[in-house]
Amino acid sequence: MLFGGMATAAVWYYATPKWYRAGYEPIQPITFSHQLHYGQLGLDCRYCHTHVTEAAHANIPSVQVCWTCHGADKANIKSDSPLLAPLRDAHERGLPVPWVRVHKLPDFVYFNHAIHVNRNVGCVSCHGRIDKMAVVRHEQPLSMSWCLDCHRDPEPNLRPNDQITNMHWQPDRPDLGAWIKQESQIRPPTDCTGCHR
Ligand code: HEC
Ligand code: HEC
Ligand code: HEC
Ligand code: HEC
Ligand code: HEC
Repeated sequence: MLFGGMATAAVWYYATPKWYRAGYEPIQPITFSHQLHYGQLGLDCRYCHTHVTEAAHANIPSVQVCWTCHGADKANIKSDSPLLAPLRDAHERGLPVPWVRVHKLPDFVYFNHAIHVNRNVGCVSCHGRIDKMAVVRHEQPLSMSWCLDCHRDPEPNLRPNDQITNMHWQPDRPDLGAWIKQESQIRPPTDCTGCHR
């Protein structure tokens, strides 16, 4: 019986979406919609995720960024909406909104966000069509083979640097990826020490 219980616990532990992360879609304190804010209002990713081109880690926007539009003393958009109660509460108490983190690599993996974004890889390659998500969903597995598949053959995922945040962009010629790879000398690491330092 003890053995059976342990097996069940192990399956439960590893099989919940937090560990099989692709598909993970936690409930957030505020139902913030990328579909609405990027897809319909047309706000660029960098308006909120301000550090994506500079820092090793991406950032979640502060209360202040939302408050510019949703604060009663600012642009006053839907500032009394019940859906925004956690935002008003955070603002009043001077605390961040307790967003639940969706993407997380294990600590033994070295990953630098800005390097990818600055080396011609668009957000959509790794995060999927965020502009169609009413709630952020973990699209890609973030497994070792997933990283390596692109590192071995990055060409299909390369785009001009001014199209990094564009969710609709399509290459205008079939050899564009190969051309960018050559021009910018893109050589992602495939040896173990590249990602395990
Ligand atoms: C108006 C502000 C805003 C804009 C614009 C915006 N985001 Fe976000 N983003 C957020 C907030 C707030 C969260 C945290 C809540 C959540 O996960 O839904 C978030 C979460 C995310 C996450 C998940 C983070 C995690 O926990 O792993 C990804 C990935 C992401 N955004 C990518 C994008 C991309 C790509 C774009 C542009 C297409 C974009 N965002 C545009 C505000 C924004
Ligand atoms: C540039 C202005 C702008 C920014 C910045 C902004 N929003 Fe919005 N937000 C809007 C607009 C416009 C709407 C749609 C209002 C409507 O439906 O009339 C909206 C709608 C919403 C709604 C739905 C409200 C309801 O009652 O239907 C939520 C929730 C929300 N935003 C959360 C956020 C959060 C959280 C942030 C910060 C990460 C944020 N917004 C940043 C402009 C903004
Ligand atoms: C090469 C793949 C890749 C690309 C391209 C990429 N991301 Fe990410 N992103 C990741 C990974 C992997 C993580 C988790 C990192 C970690 O756990 O350290 C992440 C995490 C995030 C987070 C969560 C940060 C946090 O601390 O909660 C946000 C927000 C985000 N990315 C936004 C973006 C935006 C916006 C773009 C485009 C400008 C983008 N990403 C491009 C792979 C990528
Ligand atoms: C969609 C394609 C793509 C995916 C997915 C991807 N990478 Fe990369 N990676 C690149 C490109 C392009 C470069 C830039 C190579 C260059 O600068 O020559 C790069 C560079 C790197 C570098 C070397 C730059 C540095 O920071 O020192 C590391 C480490 C790295 N990636 C780790 C990862 C890890 C870990 C993952 C999976 C979680 C991952 N990558 C997923 C395309 C990708
Ligand atoms: C492009 C980046 C990258 C390269 C190169 C890479 N790894 Fe990994 N590795 C990862 C990521 C990401 C994970 C975490 C996967 C996960 O969480 O599912 C990982 C996980 C691991 C694990 C832990 C597996 C587990 O499930 O606990 C081992 C062991 C490992 N790698 C060994 C290696 C060896 C040996 C090499 C060289 C042949 C190598 N890695 C090359 C990205 C990389």
